Amino acid sequence: MTLNEKPIAHSERRSGAFYGRRKTQKLSPKQEALFETLLPRLKLDPTTPPPSNLDQVFAHSRVFLEIGFGGGEHLTHEARNNPDVGFIGVEPFINSMAKALSVIEQENLENIRLYDEDATGLLDWLPDDSIHRIDLLYPDPWHKKRHWKRRFLNPQNLDRFARILVPGGVLRFASDIETYVNWTLNHCDRHLEFNWTATVADDWRCPWENWPSTRYEKKAIREGRTPCYLLFKRQEQQ
Ligand SMILES: C[S@@+](CC[C@H](N)C(=O)[O-])C[C@H]1O[C@@H](n2cnc3c(N)ncnc32)[C@H](O)[C@@H]1O
Repeated sequence: MTLNEKPIAHSERRSGAFYGRRKTQKLSPKQEALFETLLPRLKLDPTTPPPSNLDQVFAHSRVFLEIGFGGGEHLTHEARNNPDVGFIGVEPFINSMAKALSVIEQENLENIRLYDEDATGLLDWLPDDSIHRIDLLYPDPWHKKRHWKRRFLNPQNLDRFARILVPGGVLRFASDIETYVNWTLNHCDRHLEFNWTATVADDWRCPWENWPSTRYEKKAIREGRTPCYLLFKRQEQQ
């Protein structure tokens, strides 16, 4: 794909696919250069045969995946503070990817790999039982009921998550949109592989340890909405 991205054709879309615009602002020459030099070095390529495990990608024994990382504030914070973990970040919006690439380059963060298209293609390429944590932080809410089927969290993507998560692996979901929070609780409750871990209200009211927040969360709080943090575990035994 080129930087002058065409939208993904409707017929090519998968369930829970990317529906937004790929780019809104022209990239600076420096950002263009990062797309030509750094991104190809870090980008995972699902057109190649799927790996049998992630040893070929990371020297790290644990791998975390963040889907829709926006400007990458959370992804880079986590990578900086957990050098023993490998991180895969997915973000199809080009201006956001450009922000993350700048930070990765400036700080020489070596434990990040990237994917800049619809996450479902990558999910289907990743090996079984290979990911220790999946973060879906403030996914596009799709407020209107007729658009709810576009929400990234859906039964098909929960099946994809269950396949790639190690047994006991974690799915973290944050949102400020009550209908999406309830939607997620209902879908995970119906999915045999996922168990919600909350026991007291603070478990969903308070952010996780060392939480740096995200750009979208800060906006939500400024606008008076309340974040909710849900943590699910994949079953230990199959
Ligand atoms: C509301 S923003 C939140 C960004 C960031 N997580 C935050 O909290 O600031 C949702 C992000 O998900 C990305 N996204 C939407 N559909 C996606 C898909 N199918 N695969 C990967 N990312 C997707 C969008 O490009 C957007 O950056």
